[in-house]
Amino acid sequence: MEQQGEQTKPKKILCIGLVCLDIISVVDAFPEEDSDSRCVSQRWQRGGNASNSCTVLSLLGSPCAFMGSLCAGPVASFILEDFARFQVHVCSPRERAVCVTPTSLVISNAATGSRTILHMNSNIPDVTFEDFNALDLSAFKWIHWEGRNADEQLKMMAAVTRHNAALPRQRRIATSVEIEKPREKLYQLFPHADVVFVSKDVSRQLGFDTPQSALRGLRGRLRAGAVLICAWAEKGADALDADGTPLHSDAFPPQQLLDTLGAGDTFNGAVIHKLANGCRLQDALTFGCKVAGAKCGFHGYDAIADKLTQM
Ligand code: ADP
Ligand code: FRU
Repeated sequence: MEQQGEQTKPKKILCIGLVCLDIISVVDAFPEEDSDSRCVSQRWQRGGNASNSCTVLSLLGSPCAFMGSLCAGPVASFILEDFARFQVHVCSPRERAVCVTPTSLVISNAATGSRTILHMNSNIPDVTFEDFNALDLSAFKWIHWEGRNADEQLKMMAAVTRHNAALPRQRRIATSVEIEKPREKLYQLFPHADVVFVSKDVSRQLGFDTPQSALRGLRGRLRAGAVLICAWAEKGADALDADGTPLHSDAFPPQQLLDTLGAGDTFNGAVIHKLANGCRLQDALTFGCKVAGAKCGFHGYDAIADKLTQM
């Protein structure tokens, strides 16, 4: 196992992005507008793409850390306790005193597995380059960014490139970025990571209606030798390897689709877990679809650990 300097701690996978509170109402039929109905159950869950991917990485056995903004108060306590429960180390930037924790109200339809998200993020600033610069990069073997404040994230990526330039290949930090939201500003991130996850929403917004056409059309935006991955719900996921070889994995639907909330974050976490442990891209893609498909069959993430023996 790779070691951290002269210490014995294994190097971690760091995910930078959003943590929020998900308030989830599980229903067995989607409510009518302006109706008053009961739901099957309700729960609080730690959410946010980077935060969810950390949960999955940790359940799969990869030591990992999360970096994102947190507000003071009881919701932050819930979030921090939950990170601790999943053994996710938190590198939180300066405490954001005057802000509100981003929150999603989620209607999770157990009859279809659909998740309808109403997200509110009023005033929490994202992690800045200054926050990132305070980290000891030698603690990490992989850094994953959820594309958000692209201008600051570009500076972070450049800092990793400078850090790597002084190191032999086997000690360099690998990087990945998720470009999920169809926002023009995020597209400048394409050429700055070793592995790029592009979503079907972004692909569609850029004019592609299949994962294969998206990969072909977007490859030119990557730097030489980088990998492009595109997950597409029940169609599974596709990728282009560093040399341009197209790869595909079918989806692995569960017996009953119950909860697709965080399926993409689960896929990303599982793929990164495999790649960071030296697996081939095809194996990582297939494993990502297996773990994400299994996750759609239960609520939350905890049961991933129980399903691993079947994958
Ligand atoms: P999200 O919308 O959460 O970003 P995606 O739609 O990109 O997630 O799906 C990510 C992965 O999750 C897919 O590649 C697939 O493996 C799995 N997945 C998602 N929805 C389904 C589904 N309905 N059936 C089987 N697998 C699914
Ligand atoms: C799932 C998720 C939720 C969160 C929302 C934020 O991918 O991260 O946990 O509420 O997306 O957009």
